[in-house]
Amino acid sequence: MSEAVVSNAPAPKPTPHVKDNAIIRFEGVTKRFDRVMAVDNVTLDIREGEFFALLGPSGCGKTTLLRMLAGFETPTEGRILIDGKDVADLPPNKRPVNMVFQSYAVFPHMKVADNVGYGLKMDRVPGEEIKTRVAEALELVKLGGYGDRMPDQLSGGQRQRVALARALVKRPRVLLLDEPLSALDAKLRDQMRSELTSLQEKVGITFIMVTHDQDEALAIATRCAVMNRGVLAQVATPADLYEFPNSRFVADFVGSVNLFEGVLERDEQNEAQVRCPEISSPVYLDHGVTGARGSTVWVALRPEKIEMHKRKNGETAPKMEDAPAGANVAAGIVRDIVYLGSETNYEIELESGRRIKTFRSNLTRYDQEDFTWDEPVWLAWHACSPAVLLS
Ligand SMILES: Nc1ncnc2c1ncn2[C@@H]1O[C@H](COP(=O)(O)OP(=O)(O)O)[C@@H](O)[C@H]1O
Ligand SMILES: [Mg+2]
Repeated sequence: MSEAVVSNAPAPKPTPHVKDNAIIRFEGVTKRFDRVMAVDNVTLDIREGEFFALLGPSGCGKTTLLRMLAGFETPTEGRILIDGKDVADLPPNKRPVNMVFQSYAVFPHMKVADNVGYGLKMDRVPGEEIKTRVAEALELVKLGGYGDRMPDQLSGGQRQRVALARALVKRPRVLLLDEPLSALDAKLRDQMRSELTSLQEKVGITFIMVTHDQDEALAIATRCAVMNRGVLAQVATPADLYEFPNSRFVADFVGSVNLFEGVLERDEQNEAQVRCPEISSPVYLDHGVTGARGSTVWVALRPEKIEMHKRKNGETAPKMEDAPAGANVAAGIVRDIVYLGSETNYEIELESGRRIKTFRSNLTRYDQEDFTWDEPVWLAWHACSPAVLLS
């Protein structure tokens, strides 16, 4: 697991509900399918009470990692510990985990209550207890009173909650969710996001969710692991992933970013400077980088962290108050405008020809500074805004 290379990341904030013990531990876990390396030497601790997200592009090994934890696949190498015990010899139904699948298949011919109670019936739990626990589980997912409905009398979101209730009713120590919201439309997905969060806080169970949707992971998780081709690229809180990515892959996968290749010119304890051929001014930073001077680095600049001002003919570049004169500013021309209601996205062509993205919130209903196509602008950014990446 690689730590962030940046030296100015703040200490993580304490998270309520989360305990110190690792309820799940992957130790050097590898899974090969013939020649495909689906999971490559993953070592990872997940703490009790976390809402943990496994995030990454399709095919990076997220589902395989989850299936090994659930016992549906066997690691080629490495160990998986639950509560400190190696679970290699435990079949899926003996593990204290329960999985909600991507295609949340509810049995169409069974009433909601029977769907939810099915696993308990298989475990030969007495009928009266099943009844009570099913009612509790339905209440938890806000489907109290829906027990007698058939699945085709429910909306997509309600069916998804039936699948959740069916997993929760077995009272697992850990709930595994594989792309649980991917089948829902955008509005419903947003609503279910916050419902999942409050549900997790209410039941206090550790949740591990697989998703390829970075917005979803950032919105829901207390901590995320970003995977790339079977390897853990970075494990961090959502805010640290976004603000302090440790590589171009993470910077680009999580959120929108402008990446520039450059050379590290200066690197001191409290400041550094990078020269990027595509940006006419030097990129000045208010923190050290811990890279070798003269080495190739990449500057990651998020679109919302770039200020934009009108540029009149012959005007000299504005000065950022926290950067030396001439640094962290670039002249450009507006080439594209996408109005999104709450914000507007711009594509700006720099003097080098490189096009970059900037976002502006639409603070007022009548934009005082409305930018138009082919308009000359200054772009400027603070010394704390760029992230410098060594890989
Ligand atoms: N049962 C299998 N047999 C062969 N290859 C598999 C199997 N399951 C997954 N893979 C391969 O392993 C890689 C990771 O798959 P998966 O874990 O499903 O990724 P993700 O969930 O991140 O999309 C992919 O290349 C996939 O094709
Ligand atoms: Mg998957």
